[in-house]
Amino acid sequence: MNQYRNEDQYRAKIILAPMVRVGTLPMRLLALDYGADLVYCEILTELVSQLSVPVTCKIRVLPQLEDTLKLAKLIESTGVSALAVHGRTKTERSRDPNRDHYIKAIAEALEIPVIANGGSRTIKDLSDIEQFRKSTGAASIMVARAAEWNCSVFRKEGPLPYTDVMRSYLTYAFKYDNNEINTKYCVLQILHDKMTEAPEADRCLAAKSLQDFANIWELDEDYQNTLLRRREREKALLLRAGGDYAGVKRKKTNDGLTCFELPVRFDKRLYSSTMTPKQILNNWSKNGKLGKPIYKTEERATDRCFHSSVQLGDKIYTNPYWEKSKQLSEQSAAICCLVVNGQDDSRLAEPENESEQLRRKWRVAVMSPSFENREKQNDEKNDHNSCLPNESVPDSIASANNMEGQSNCQPKNEDTCNSNCMEKSETMAAHMIENSNVIKNSPC
Ligand SMILES: Cc1cc2nc3c(=O)[nH]c(=O)nc-3n(C[C@H](O)[C@H](O)[C@H](O)COP(=O)(O)O)c2cc1C
Repeated sequence: MNQYRNEDQYRAKIILAPMVRVGTLPMRLLALDYGADLVYCEILTELVSQLSVPVTCKIRVLPQLEDTLKLAKLIESTGVSALAVHGRTKTERSRDPNRDHYIKAIAEALEIPVIANGGSRTIKDLSDIEQFRKSTGAASIMVARAAEWNCSVFRKEGPLPYTDVMRSYLTYAFKYDNNEINTKYCVLQILHDKMTEAPEADRCLAAKSLQDFANIWELDEDYQNTLLRRREREKALLLRAGGDYAGVKRKKTNDGLTCFELPVRFDKRLYSSTMTPKQILNNWSKNGKLGKPIYKTEERATDRCFHSSVQLGDKIYTNPYWEKSKQLSEQSAAICCLVVNGQDDSRLAEPENESEQLRRKWRVAVMSPSFENREKQNDEKNDHNSCLPNESVPDSIASANNMEGQSNCQPKNEDTCNSNCMEKSETMAAHMIENSNVIKNSPC
């Protein structure tokens, strides 16, 4: 028997169904909190990356029962561990009745566990889920829309009011810095049949940021604390990874160009929407006849995060972070270019972990002639085992790198952990200008 089939883990289970847009991290965690046994998304992802995991399959039924049974048996013969069946055909919509009797016939015909799906219209709580299980004779039940509307449908003690679910959902969204568009989509789904009566509905429709949702649902304190904790962790990471100069690099590319890297990050709350770093860089380079900034972005296949650099003349500017959107990453590259060239990027506020004073230090450091050699030496003697464990990784970095529970030691550019051991002589230029005794030895 195939050691990876492990069919038992698909029997007697209640599963959050795959849902594009909805099945992102906060909703998956919330479903697990409320008692769902499995959340679906990882399974297919793992199938693609490695086959040493149980493989399951989900289908819709075909118009004829006989054809559906043939298809189900064919799929079973491929060795999958379980088969999920949504009891509607490809052309049927959610308002059409679910063909529970097709699922029942499949469950009777197959040896592997069959997971019934499509019953959300009749599901309000755990007893409805049990009823759906009985009527289909399935081994397990998979729930999509009922969980999207009220994720506490999985709770043994009964579902919670939508306001409680909303607040718990948002707490996760804040913690994992979930993107605004996806958060808004899920918030509106939780409100779906309450749009006319919920006093928060209009403000949710108009909301543009996580901060807006925090205001609407009176979670300001929670949101501020989350941001504060994230900053604290970032600071601790920076300190361990090389103090003020962690993430600051200057190196030669294969084409012989000089590449500057600073730990700068575009936070749109810090900029006016009419004057972004990219616009400022465009204006500055145009007025100074420095040529046009050329952006290059790579997309990482594993988590579809982006990393950009911008070339201006014969210099390249970048940062060490992977972002959830190309725009964000390009803006960060533009900030790096402006900072290295001593240009003001018109920030409306100065976060402590990226103060103007710190930016000046970085600029001086990357301009120091010995900085490039420092990088080479450090790359050679870099001991990754001295990197921080993941619990110390800032949320934003951990989520961007999709590396929960992994070591923070990633190949180049994937974190700020490529040791930044700052030697005394090499900080001389920074010293002279800053007139302070900042010599930070990294833990390496
Ligand atoms: C927002 C949303 C996104 C969905 N995305 C997927 C998907 O990516 N893959 C998939 O197989 N089914 C997807 N589905 C279908 C559900 O997994 C499920 O089969 C369907 O909603 C019927 O189950 P239900 O009655 O419990 O909602 C999606 C459904 C919704 C509502």
